[in-house]
Amino acid sequence: MVLFTKGEIRLTDGTTGASDLHVLGIAGSLRGKSFNRALLRAAQELAPPDILIDVFDIANVPLYNGDDEEKGDVEPVSELREAIKTSDALLVVTPEYNYGIPGVLKNSIDWASRPYGQSVLTDKPAAIMGATPGTGGTARAQLQLRQSLAAIGVLVMAQPEIFVSSAHEKFDNEGRLTDETTIKHVSRFLVSFAAWIDRLSLNRS
Ligand SMILES: Cc1cc2nc3c(=O)[nH]c(=O)nc-3n(C[C@H](O)[C@H](O)[C@H](O)COP(=O)(O)O)c2cc1C
Repeated sequence: MVLFTKGEIRLTDGTTGASDLHVLGIAGSLRGKSFNRALLRAAQELAPPDILIDVFDIANVPLYNGDDEEKGDVEPVSELREAIKTSDALLVVTPEYNYGIPGVLKNSIDWASRPYGQSVLTDKPAAIMGATPGTGGTARAQLQLRQSLAAIGVLVMAQPEIFVSSAHEKFDNEGRLTDETTIKHVSRFLVSFAAWIDRLSLNRS
């Protein structure tokens, strides 16, 4: 797990260097061969040089329970909150389960939305992607995700959108994105996302 320090990134050789934007990636699937985790890995590779995407694995985030919250944060929750807090933006990659977002993803968002009125998610720039072997491209799950993030004041990029349908035809057996059209879309999406984050940062300064 990586916590970002402003102005520093971890490079692939383990050294650190200057970088403009630190994005925290969260995939809403715990499956080893998940298409959505694979899409997030593809985004890491296709990101423009000024964006570093680091992944937070939500597998260990417990089920939200208000009684547990009153006792104080358990470690996966405080790590999740700190990772969101120290990032410049969030990239959420969601599967679609029964026309909505998976419970594990909603659960993590619910934890991160607390305490009410003081969430680390509020005013955080974000973007959404999703992949499914089906034909709908996770459109309905993405709409639901936008709605929940709106409740917390997350600033989700409106356009462009990425809906990866027939995902089983677009990734190879090792989970590498091989479909040229999707590779182009993801690359352009990330350039737009960088501009979105920049625009929101400029408005704050
Ligand atoms: C409980 C459940 C419900 C699902 N509902 C939908 C759905 O509404 N729409 C859809 O496109 N795919 C649906 N699927 C298929 C998922 O898109 C598919 O399992 C996908 O691979 C999950 O994402 P992952 O590969 O990142 O784990 C469903 C799968 C499960 C397990």
